This record gives sequence, structure tokens and C-alpha cells, in this order.
Amino acid sequence: MIRTSCIETAPGVWKLTLGSGERITPFQVLSRRAAVDRMAMLPKAGCCPLDAGQITTRKTRRGFEVHLPLAPDEQIYGLGLQLLSFRQTGLKKTLRVNSDPRCDLGDSHAPVPFYVTTGGYGVLVDTARYATFYCGSTQRPAAPRETGPQRGIALTTEALYAARNSAEFREMIVEIPGAEGVDLYLFAGPEMGNAVQRYNLFSGGGCVPPRWALGPWYRVRGDFSQAQITAFTQQLREEKIPCDVLGVEPGWQTHAYACSHVWSEKFPDPAGFVASLRAEHFRVNLWTHAFTAPSSPIYGALLPHAANYTVFGGLVPDMLDGEGRKLFTEHYRKTTVVLGVSGYKIDECDGSDFIHSPWSFPELSEFPSGADGEQMHSLFGLLLQDSAARLYHSEERRTFGLVRNSHAFAAAQPFALYSDLYDHRQFVRGIVNASFSGLLWCPEVRESASGGELVRRLQTAVVSPILQINGWYIANPPWKQWAVDANNNGEFVPGWEAWQERCRGILELRMRLIPYLHAAFFRYWRDGIPPFRALVFDYPSESESRGIDDEVLIGDRLLAAPLIDDGPPRRLWLPPGAWADFWTAEIHEGGKFVDFPVVEGRFPLFVKSGSVLALAFPTLHTDDPRAFHLEVSIYGDGALPAALLEEYAPDRPFDRNQANLVHLAWNSQKEELSCTREDPHSRPLYSVSSVRFPGKEQERLS
Ligand code: GAL
Repeated sequence: MIRTSCIETAPGVWKLTLGSGERITPFQVLSRRAAVDRMAMLPKAGCCPLDAGQITTRKTRRGFEVHLPLAPDEQIYGLGLQLLSFRQTGLKKTLRVNSDPRCDLGDSHAPVPFYVTTGGYGVLVDTARYATFYCGSTQRPAAPRETGPQRGIALTTEALYAARNSAEFREMIVEIPGAEGVDLYLFAGPEMGNAVQRYNLFSGGGCVPPRWALGPWYRVRGDFSQAQITAFTQQLREEKIPCDVLGVEPGWQTHAYACSHVWSEKFPDPAGFVASLRAEHFRVNLWTHAFTAPSSPIYGALLPHAANYTVFGGLVPDMLDGEGRKLFTEHYRKTTVVLGVSGYKIDECDGSDFIHSPWSFPELSEFPSGADGEQMHSLFGLLLQDSAARLYHSEERRTFGLVRNSHAFAAAQPFALYSDLYDHRQFVRGIVNASFSGLLWCPEVRESASGGELVRRLQTAVVSPILQINGWYIANPPWKQWAVDANNNGEFVPGWEAWQERCRGILELRMRLIPYLHAAFFRYWRDGIPPFRALVFDYPSESESRGIDDEVLIGDRLLAAPLIDDGPPRRLWLPPGAWADFWTAEIHEGGKFVDFPVVEGRFPLFVKSGSVLALAFPTLHTDDPRAFHLEVSIYGDGALPAALLEEYAPDRPFDRNQANLVHLAWNSQKEELSCTREDPHSRPLYSVSSVRFPGKEQERLS
């Protein structure tokens, strides 16, 4: 058994050094500053959450093993963006970067070696290797297996394997191939949610997107020219479709798909193009990927700072090599940031070479920094995010973007993950699973099989970190035609106007929620609480919550249960307490399952009774000053105040910005709404236009 040390490295975080760890790990390579001051505000943690004496290790010819104790009924969550399972208990996962996970083996866009348990703690295994986690799935002869009563001979595989589950001796085993040791970071509770909070704060605190990033995003077809995009955006405005961010593909793909990093001839005036969209209150988010084509102006200079394998004929920049990273980011500064581009969609940084070759670099690649392909796969997306975030920060600008690969300590990165996969049920699971690992997930909307499905997918996007319609292969908005070929042929569905109306209503709901969501993100930064999270996060001792991966807690007052199909009433579990139906104000007593009737235009959305809920006037974009006009609803006795975040320089980095927290509280005795500003001298940005009492008759104008 090898052990070197165990120290409390930040409030409630213990670092356990086991053997000699590797040089290239997420902790070592990421520029990250733990939010120690904010961590100190969390519940005090007396001692290391696991008895270090019970953690054992083994160095074998295969690599390095860590064995951690598990209690018989302890449930395990996390390990990154696992789209195919929620509870990891009893499963074996190899955390391998792969954009096309077909089986529940651990492959993911964002495999994160961090898990939390209902035992009230979290463990981060600081490795960039494809480690395997045996989550209580192993058995040993030393612990004789309880076979239970004699059963008949099973005739289904489910029955056969059910009989084999033994809970009497369980452990978590992590095997790290090739390693000589590893550092563990243990995050204290007391509850599982507190451990996630500490992990997020240790990562620097959750990112706070600018308000515009919380409005709807629309990506136009990948081959659209400057003129076509301009016409498209004019139509969005004329048809009164809310939209803040426009996703654009700049034609950087060379014939082999590597990136030229030069705007193509379809964009004769990139600077004028970005400026004219900005004048119409659209931020431009630019598609890109890192594989640098021979036609790129930085190709020659990058060559000595790239891997010994190429992808699509393009160089793989070594993002751990200071010079390579600088060359790369400086080029982006000159060609995009100075034009006013608001951020990137960083594509292809995950491994897609399992089913498409040559879609990525092999694990056996070598990089000048000394990293190999396996380590770089794990860290590539994280390093690209970090470079982009630092680039914008150095320009005193705020960015928010999309990325297809991430890893550990990512909470502070201003990015959300997305995928080419498209299973709606998995997309919903992605929202809640991301919340255990410091990740944000964007369940984007593309085509659909029916208008109903389109509506449901859009509703799901409303209750996710980024609402994006990704029309990269359709010429027209999906509500005009949801089938791809017909859409591209300009054949609209009969009655498309009504579908557009419905979809506009859903996008407007998102616009109304922005003040609420923005404040929820502030808590992600300040307290480390994910703005969108699983029910078990807040209700770990309610056994029902432990398996629920299709309901989402949003901020501290809302709960949504996305509709996956249009079947019978939607069965959902409401946590204890009284919950008001957002649409009808009908009160439901929680602590049980309820059936939500499927009613046109609605999806299960509940407000914690007692909440003061402040919704914005639904504008077409967040620059409209009316987006600060609030309609305040008082649910029940209104004892739970609303929080709002006011930012005075919203385009500056959040840590350089002046921001103020505003609390709206309802005094039921005086029947008065009061507003307390944490900085009483600050200039008010929000104003209350009306106060409503859902479920009661009165309505007031202020
Ligand atoms: C994919 C990406 C899509 C789209 C496409 C365009 O890899 O996931 O969203 O951007 O590339 O080339």
C-alpha cells in the first residue's frame, strides 16, 4: 500500500496523494483559482469525509488501483455527461472521450473522473487517463456471496443477472492504466449536493453567462452566405421570433474539413457583417474546430507545436505547449474577437474516430509538450475552452459558447456541451447528469418527426442552460417544416403559421425566465449550486428522488418535467411541500407522484408555493430595455423572496464587473412588495410593472 499524504487543501477539500501521480492531469494543466472565500461560507466540514485509512491502493503491471469503501445502500452519481444512465451504482465505466457513445460503457463527450454519493461526499480522481470505475460492481472471494433463497432457473437475461446482485461487500475501484500513482480530491458534504458545491467552487465557481447568452440561439444553415444570413435574420425579426445569438459557420472548412481559419469568400466583409448583426441585437457565435489546414495562415508556424498525427489533413495544435497555444489564440484574437464575435462553438474536439475515420487523432499520438493522444483527448476541449475564456478575458470581454468535449474542474468555463446525438430522452438525462460534474448541457433542437415532437423538444430546451435551435442542415426554421428534405425544398407544412405561433410562445417563455435564470447562475458562481440539477441533489434522503432523471430543478423555485412523448398523462414525482402548477396555479401536495394531463401548449412546470417569481416582459432580444420590466407573481403566502442580478457592465468579464443582488420580498401583512438592494446606492435596472396573485383574483399595477 502506497500513501504519501492527506491534507486539507481548501475548506472541506482533502487532497490525498497516493504514489507518484502523473505530470499531465486536469488539476495540473488548467488555469483555475479555487474560490476559497466562497467555500468558507459552506457548512463546516470537520474532517476528511472518508476515512483515509480505508482507502487502499495497489500498483500492478496494468497500472494503479485505488479502492474506496462504499456503504451497502450508497448510491453513486456523476462521472460526467453520461447520457445512457443516471445512477452509476453497480456499473462499470471506462471514462473515454467519444462523441458517439452507443453503449453505456462510460464513453462520453465529457467523461469526468468525479463522482458523488448519497453518503454525502465527492471524489475527484485527478487523471487524464481513460480510468475505469467499478462502482460497486465487483465481488471478491473473501466476502462470500449471499445467494439468497433458491430460485427457479431464470429464462430471461434480466432475471438471470438480477439474482447475482450482492450488496454485502461493496467498494469503488478505480483503475488508472499505466499510472504509478494518483492524487484524489475528497469533497465533504454533509449532503451530496454540498460536495458538488465544493467541487464547483474549488473549480473557481460556476460561470455566469451574460444575459444575452440566456436568450434563444439560432444556428443557420452551414453553407449560408453573408447575404443569406442577413436575409434570414431580418425574417426572424419580422416574424417576431425572439433571438439573441446567431450561430454562423464561417466557411472555414477546407475540402478535407480541416479549418482554414480564414473567412471564406461567402463573407466578403466579416467585420461589417458582425457589426450589422450586432446593430440588430444579434451576437455572433462562430463555429470552429482546432484542426488547422495547410491553407491556414498559421499552419507553418504551428507545425513544430503540433502532434505527430493530423486530422482531416489538419494539424492538431498542442494546447499544452505555450507557444502553440499563443499562436493559435492570437490568430483568433485578430480574426474574430476584434470583429466583435461573441464566442465560439468549438467542434470536433472529442474523439469521433471510433465510428468515423479519420475523425480524430489516435491515442498513441505524441505532442511536443510530452502529452500523448489519450491525455490530450481528455484535456483537449478543456484547454480550448480555457484558451478562449482567457482570450476574451484579456480583452475585458465576456464570452459564452458551445463545446463538444469537457473534463474535470470545468464549472467556471463559459461553455455548454452539445452533441450530434439526438435522442430526446437522453437529452433530458443530460441536463440533470451534467449537474453532478460541473458541466452545462445544451439539448439542441433540430428536425423532428412531428410538430408535437418539435414543441416538446423546444420546451425541453427552455429548461436547459442554453436554448439553441441548430438549423445547420435546414434552410428554414423547423416550425415551418420539421422534415429535413422538405424544409430544404422550401415545402412548408400546411398551417405552419400556427406552429410558428406555438413555438414563438415557447421562446417567449424563455425570455420571461431570463431574470430568474440569471440569478440562478449567480448562485452557481457564488455557492456552486448548479442552476439546472437533478432532484436528488436537493432531496437526497427521499428515496424516490434517487432514480429520477427526467425532471429538472431550476434555480431554487421551479421544477420542470419535460414531455418526451405525447402519450397519456405525464407521471412525475413532486418533492415534499406544496407546488403550484405554473399554468393554472393549482396547488399540488408533493412527496408523491402526480399525473400531469398533457394539454396543448403546456408542459409540467411547477413553482414552489410561497415563491415570489419575477418574470420579464418577453422581448425579441435582451438588449431591449423592456426586458427589465417585471411581472411579479406571488404564490401562496409569498414568504420566499425572489433574487435578481443586476450587472452594470454586462459585456465585461463577471469578475471585473459591478453587480448587485436585489431581493424582492412580499409582506403579506402590509400587502406590499419590498425591494432590498445589497448595494443600496446602486442604480436600479429592473422595475416592477405589475404584481399578480396566481390562483387568486387580484392583479395590481405599480
Ligand atoms: C458537426 C456539429 C454540428 C455542425 C456540423 C457542421 O460536427 O456537431 O452541430 O456544426 O459539424 O459542420
